[in-house]
Amino acid sequence: MNIRIEKTATPKTKPEASALGFGKYFTDHMFIMDYDPENGWHDARIVPFGSFEIHPASTVLHYGAEIFEGLKAYRRPDGKVQMFRPIENIRRMNDSAERLCLPQIPEDIAMEVLTAFVAHEADWTPSAPGTSLYLRPFMFGNDETLGLHTIQNARYMIIASPVGSYYKEGINPVRIMIESEDVRAVKGGTGYAKCGGNYAASNRAGMKAEQKGYSQVLWLDGVHRKYIEEVGAMNVMFMIDDEIVTPALTGSILPGITRKSCIEVLKNKGYKVSERLLSVDELGEALAQGKLKEAWGCGTAAVVSPIGELCYKDQVYKINDGKIGDVTQSLYDTLTGIQWGKIEDTYGWTYLVK
Ligand code: PLP
Ligand code: COI
Repeated sequence: MNIRIEKTATPKTKPEASALGFGKYFTDHMFIMDYDPENGWHDARIVPFGSFEIHPASTVLHYGAEIFEGLKAYRRPDGKVQMFRPIENIRRMNDSAERLCLPQIPEDIAMEVLTAFVAHEADWTPSAPGTSLYLRPFMFGNDETLGLHTIQNARYMIIASPVGSYYKEGINPVRIMIESEDVRAVKGGTGYAKCGGNYAASNRAGMKAEQKGYSQVLWLDGVHRKYIEEVGAMNVMFMIDDEIVTPALTGSILPGITRKSCIEVLKNKGYKVSERLLSVDELGEALAQGKLKEAWGCGTAAVVSPIGELCYKDQVYKINDGKIGDVTQSLYDTLTGIQWGKIEDTYGWTYLVK
């Protein structure tokens, strides 16, 4: 793929690591390519980061045809920059595209343009502990008509943001509220796709949780309203006695790449991991009987995030005394060790950019 490059005339000063937070700063450039049925994916370009024009009738503004991905580039101790399982994000993006009838991107092209863009912005990958370059590929339907019809035109973009920890708590346990009224997704809907609409549907419960001082919402299934699904920006795992339980991929939750990686790492460490239905009642009983040893969330932005407190229908439950548990800590150490290139990647998950 031929990628046109237009360099910025006004490079920005890079922020201090301590100021990073999540998604507040952006690199100097962004990647764009467009799709139409006649030309396929075309006009690939890396241009200065900034606002762009969009037609007021563009599909995405009215009917929400938008999908995205999230992955990271990491600065290794030897100064090189690597991504973590980028092909998984590319495949999931194509699954999301299939669900929303947006055009898919052939894997080799998606990989080529992602790598070229990350190589171009690699200087922006921070090196302080716990920091990385968060990559946000996204795609939207871009037809200039209000008629509801099969999408013809689309735009694909990648932006990048140097980040620190997602939660203000860092690796300290977060407080999560189990939502009992709103639902995020149902089987047959778009829950398994990474589309903007899922997050829009989550806003009301998320706002309620924040107002009560919780970091995020833990969703229950939309049909029975009793099975644990996932948190706003991460999948969840619970250690009940010596079994690590994570909700099965039933179609309404995101098949997280961190989730998949955690399962492999945990099984390799000899833990019993079950992907199955887990009801909120079973969780309550495990808590009451002292069997719920640890709980954590996992996601690209959230990494491995211990859950120290759950609130369900105004009842508050503390987990592991609100402290990070040994299994959570060891999982965090192994996964981040691989991601930052500090321990050997025996899984073949890392992808060297430059
Ligand atoms: N679930 C939701 C709703 C998310 O937004 C994310 C974040 O991407 C995840 C789970 C975790 O997915 P991954 O590990 O691929 O980042
Ligand atoms: C990610 O972890 O990449 C996400 O997409 C989370 C995001 C909703 C903040």
